[in-house]
Amino acid sequence: MKLCFATNNTHKIKEIEHKLEGLDIVLCSLKDIGCTQELPENQKTLGGNSLEKAEFVYNQFGVDCFADDTGLEVFALDGEPGVYSARYAGDSKNPEANMDLLLQNMKGVKDRRAQFRTVITLIINGKKKQFEGVVHGRILEEKRGGHGFGYDPIFQPNHYDETFAQMPLVEKNKISHRAIALEKLVNQLKSIA
Ligand code: IMP
Repeated sequence: MKLCFATNNTHKIKEIEHKLEGLDIVLCSLKDIGCTQELPENQKTLGGNSLEKAEFVYNQFGVDCFADDTGLEVFALDGEPGVYSARYAGDSKNPEANMDLLLQNMKGVKDRRAQFRTVITLIINGKKKQFEGVVHGRILEEKRGGHGFGYDPIFQPNHYDETFAQMPLVEKNKISHRAIALEKLVNQLKSIA
C-alpha cells in the first residue's frame, strides 16, 4: 500500500518510517507525490486542521494519506497558543519569539500546567479516522536545553526533571505527543496492512 505523510518535515517522516518496517506500506512525502504548494490550515481546531490537510492531499492527488497537527495548550491561557502555536508571535513562525511571548504572558502566573496535543487524520479509500496523542507537563519560567524545536526549551513533561529540549531526541521521541498519536496510527495500519 502506498501511503503519503502529508508533511514536508523530513524529521517527522524519519520518526515514523522505522515504526512501519515489516508492513506492506510504502511511505512517501508530499515531494514524492509532486505536491509543492503549502497545505491549507484554516480551521480553529487541531482536528479540523489535520483533516483539512489530509482531505486536500486525498482530493487533489488521489493517494491514501495522513496529516498531523500539533499545538501547545496552556491551561491558564484557556488553551492558547493551541492551534496558533506556530505563529503565536507572528507570521514569521519564529520559535524564540513564540517562547518569549508565552513566557511574557505567563509572568506571575502560578498555574503552569500545559499539554502538547497532536491529532492525526488518516484517509484510506475515502474512510477517515483520527488519532490523538497528549503529553501533560508545565511551562517553566525560563528556557532550558538546546535539543528539539519549537517550545521544547520551556516545556517540562510530568515525571521528568528535564525539559523536552534537555532530552536526547530519541528519548523525547519515545514519550512525545506525536509518538503517542503515531503509535495509535501504526496499530491501525498494522490491522489492515
Ligand atoms: P505542527 O502542527 O507539527 O507544524 O506544529 C505546530 C507548532 O507547534 C510548531 O511550529 C511548534 O511551534 C509547536 N510544536 C509542535 N510539536 C512540537 C514539539 O514536539 N516540541 C515543541 N514544539 C512543538
